[in-house]
Parts: sequence; structure tokens; C-alpha cells
Amino acid sequence: MTRKVILDVDTGTDDAIAIMLAAYAPALDLMACTTAWGNHDVGTTTTNTLRILDLIGRGNIPVYKGLGKPFAPIPFLFEGHVDSEREIIHPHDFPAPPTQLKAADQPAVEWLVETLRATTEQVTLVPVAPLTNIAAALTLDPKITEAVDEIVIMGGAHALGNVTASAEANIWHDPVAADVVFQAGFERLVLVPLDATHKANMSLEHTSALRSLISPAARVAADIVEQRIHGYNETQPQVQPDSAPVHDALCIAYLMDPAVIDIAPYHVAIETVSPVGFGKTIVDVAARTRKKPNAFVALDADAERFNKLLYEAISEGR
Ligand code: BDR
Ligand code: CA
Repeated sequence: MTRKVILDVDTGTDDAIAIMLAAYAPALDLMACTTAWGNHDVGTTTTNTLRILDLIGRGNIPVYKGLGKPFAPIPFLFEGHVDSEREIIHPHDFPAPPTQLKAADQPAVEWLVETLRATTEQVTLVPVAPLTNIAAALTLDPKITEAVDEIVIMGGAHALGNVTASAEANIWHDPVAADVVFQAGFERLVLVPLDATHKANMSLEHTSALRSLISPAARVAADIVEQRIHGYNETQPQVQPDSAPVHDALCIAYLMDPAVIDIAPYHVAIETVSPVGFGKTIVDVAARTRKKPNAFVALDADAERFNKLLYEAISEGR
């Protein structure tokens, strides 16, 4: 039996690879993509999502356009964050061909609530964007958690940061939304933070293997990852030279093969107030708060397993 999945994206280069994986994985039934602001404005993330689905021949998967600004306004102006570097990693000139496909008429949050209320089978939610849409849906109907067997979130960081010294982009963009999601009482919440995604990097060897598959999807995937490698070389050079994380794809890889990440239960709190630590995920690895774990957090990943799985999925799906 296939597993029903809803992917919430802000496409985005790594989102694009996540969409390919989710659409190709035979064990997953990608019901829809919902889009949020984040890597770009929500109009652009929606078009990019449609472009990828069209490229891979999955234009039948509906796309619902979501919210375009944070659930709660950011209470102060920031100094010293590096959000402006995003264009190098997620260029506006998106490397997939234009499309005639259009988003569905219904807004994403409305569709999420309606679908999760109506479903007779539990659904897996995979938000790999700011948690704006999910928090808004929960605010409309907190009981939608009952329809979700697992929520797998790309976001946060324990020992790293990519927007500030301690905050990761998806959480930093809308920390109040993240707080709503972490406190919503999901049956099982899996957090895939930077600590794990930076352990599953792709290198130029991996992109040349993809390129040798000779299909439009494989070529675009290789272009996208090479763009990321170039961007990381410039902005956040990695321990392994000429390599980059492909964050969002690791969440889908986990659904395909849970052994691709190492998870353990911890209590996670979201910093929503302090200007210095704004948007940080505070993972209580030493159980100092004595609070009951509310998440399974991935602090490690298996790069080889991830890359093999990705290569096979793109090779078989093309
Ligand atoms: C996350 O932020 C976005 O820029 C990426 O698409 C990913 O979801 C990484 O911090
Ligand atoms: Ca993303």
C-alpha cells in the first residue's frame, strides 16, 4: 500500500529535488504540493513547483498556493543575518523549463483543512518551508493533527545556523508558526535539521553520475545540485570540498528508507522572542528541562545511503 503524502514547499533548489523524489517514489502517493513563501515570494515558489512537476511528467499532481508572509509579523529588524545570500543558492533564474501548468483555484490552507478533515486514511505531512501554512491550518482546526500519522519537518539546527549563528532559514522565517506546530500535539513529529542535512551532502561526483543518466529530469537535477555546490562554495564552504547539502530531499529519503537518518527523541523549544537567538530550535539533548520529548530529531545522516537512493529514484523515474 502506498503512503499518502502532502509536501509543503518553497521551491527552491533543494525543494525541487524533494519534489522529484516524492513524485518518483513508488511507495509514496504524493497527493499534492502546497506552496509557501520562503526561498522566494509565494508566486515564484508556486511557479517553480509547477515547472518541476511538468518537467518530470507529473503535471497531474495538484499544486495549491499558500501564504505569502509570516504567520506572525517579525517583531524587530535584524542586523547581521545572511538571508541576502539566498539568491546564490536559490537563483530567480530557475533551472527548469517554463510551464503552462497552473495552480489549483483553492488556497492551500483551505485545501489542507478540508482534506485532513475528510480523509479516512492517515496522511503524512512533509513541510520543507517556513511553517506558515501548517500553523494557519492548525489555527483553523487543531483537530487536523488526528489525520496525520507523521509530520516530517526540514528545519532547525542544534549546533549550526544558516541565517544567523544559531537559526536555520525555515524556522527563522516564521518562528511563531513553528512554535504552533511543535505544540500542536502531532502523534509523531520528526525534525530533520541542518545537523543531519549537512551529513548527507552531494558532490560533483554525484552530479556527474546523474548527468550520465541522460534524461531531462536527471540533467535538471544535476544542474540544480551543481548550482547549490557553487553557492555553498561561495557562502558556506563545506568540510568535503565541492559538496552541498540538499536539505529538503533528505525528508523524503527518510520516508523511503528510515535508516538514512539517525533519530532520537528530544524536547524541542522554539525561540520566538530574543533578537540574538530568534528562530533557534533549542534541542534538549541532555534532558535538562525534564520536559517530555515532543520530537524525534535527526542529528546524523548516512550520505552514501542517501546518494544511492536519490540516484536510483531518478534513474528509475526518468
Ligand atoms: C531550508 O531553507 C530553505 O532555503 C531550503 O529550501 C530548505 O528548506 C534550509 O535551511
Ligand atoms: Ca525549502
